[in-house]
Amino acid sequence: MVLDALQLRSGERVLDIGTGPGFLAAEMADSVGPGGQIHCIDMSAPMLDMAKRRCAPKPWVSFQPGSATNLPFGEATFDAAISVQVYEYIPDITKAISELYRVLRPGGRAVVVSTDWDAIAWHASDSARMRRVLSAFKEHCVYTALPRTLAPSLKRAGFILKEQRIIPQFNATWDPDSYSYQIARLISAFVPGRQGVTKEEARAWVEDLRGTGERGEYFFSLNQYLCLVVKPE
Ligand SMILES: C[S@@+](CC[C@H](N)C(=O)[O-])C[C@H]1O[C@@H](n2cnc3c(N)ncnc32)[C@H](O)[C@@H]1O
Repeated sequence: MVLDALQLRSGERVLDIGTGPGFLAAEMADSVGPGGQIHCIDMSAPMLDMAKRRCAPKPWVSFQPGSATNLPFGEATFDAAISVQVYEYIPDITKAISELYRVLRPGGRAVVVSTDWDAIAWHASDSARMRRVLSAFKEHCVYTALPRTLAPSLKRAGFILKEQRIIPQFNATWDPDSYSYQIARLISAFVPGRQGVTKEEARAWVEDLRGTGERGEYFFSLNQYLCLVVKPE
């Protein structure tokens, strides 16, 4: 959906802010081709290493440690930029958005995707434990309901809002190749010691999810939202 909104063209210069493991960087590299450039920044060295390995066969993708709030690039450098599942982790989001605006050329476009962590629908046989675990997990980011305010923030910075889209993450089975299976692993590692949640409780929470899957009762739904914006000419 990000690639569809961005409509990259051959030869374009693109910035990926908070590239993480580099899935999108690798795909964007195919869209712009060797005549284009994909620049990736991330604050995490292990993430950059992973992304570098993934993009090794595409030398027109480059990597730099750096922060979204202080982008190591000049004004009007990029035709397009993305930041996917990143801004909710940045306390000074106003600065991050003004940096995004600064490095785009006039007419350049950006796609920003964020997650509404306050609106997870996740079935468990022990709903009180589910509530405790999800409440402790909210500590993993700064803005737990960013999609609700992101578009106005982008407009305040000077961007023209072209489009908003919903990206539903819906899983009806407990499947290792699914969004919720993978975030359950992250959550069970993150929550112990927070808001009174213990390791045993986190483990029991995962077992409960597995049980709902085995009984054919699994249900997970969470929405992410995409904003496509353009810097005025
Ligand atoms: C949830 S991951 C998303 C990764 C990738 N964009 C994706 O969607 O697959 C968030 C990434 O943002 C990075 N990050 C968090 N705060 C950042 C900041 N202020 N500047 C740059 N990167 C940041 C993290 O290191 C992490 O790699």
